[in-house]
Amino acid sequence: MEKSIVIGSDHVGIELKPVIVAHLESRGYKVVDVGTDTAERTDYPIYGQAVGQRVASGEFPLGIAICGTGVGISIAANKVAGVRAACVSEPYSAELSRRHNNSNVLCFGARVVGSELAKMIVDAWLDANYEGDRHQRRIDELAAEDARDPETFAKLSQAVPNRINA
Ligand code: RB5
Repeated sequence: MEKSIVIGSDHVGIELKPVIVAHLESRGYKVVDVGTDTAERTDYPIYGQAVGQRVASGEFPLGIAICGTGVGISIAANKVAGVRAACVSEPYSAELSRRHNNSNVLCFGARVVGSELAKMIVDAWLDANYEGDRHQRRIDELAAEDARDPETFAKLSQAVPNRINA
């Protein structure tokens, strides 16, 4: 099966984004860029939402979103139900965001990481796999939040043995 990934950025990410696209393509990914395409100032929520929606819909298994810090665009992507966007600036968190949080959108900041570090972050993220097991209830709790389903959330979280004062 062809590996595909959706990518988006605001204006701050437009120089780093093609570097990441080329890197992904060199790893055999088909990459779809949802914009922005110019240095003209724009709003990161548009592109965080665009990446998030294409992942949450199942059109793409994974997405990457870039803004100045990665923070704004990760907040935007995480507003889409089903998205688990991780804003990271080093490979360890990128890897763990896959293994433990089953992150499906990777975010970083073009003003924070250089292109070589960004490629290392991407590699760490793509090379890691979700471990399931003890992490699954936590992912299910997040899904219950996404679904605005407090009953399911309560049922899941009440099964946590050392749940204190929450
Ligand atoms: C744009 O100036 C900047 O705020 C944006 O790229 C991002 O860093 C927001 O989180």
